[in-house]
Amino acid sequence: MKATVNKETCEGCAVCIEICPDVFEMDDANQASVTKEPIPVELEEECRDAADQCPTEAIHIQAE
Ligand code: F3S
Repeated sequence: MKATVNKETCEGCAVCIEICPDVFEMDDANQASVTKEPIPVELEEECRDAADQCPTEAIHIQAE
């Protein structure tokens, strides 16, 4: 599984980082970036939850 953050729509609200800090971190532009590719299996559920909870739907998940 792979996750990407759309920098056009991410508003830096950091919900993803609260839910899944092992995959998402804040970059210098105050937007989320993805630290792991592929997403480790044990983090997939948290990562999907983060994508679901993002208020701007900026996180896209791709199954591989
Ligand atoms: Fe950005 Fe959504 Fe995370 S707005 S900081 S990707 S919760």
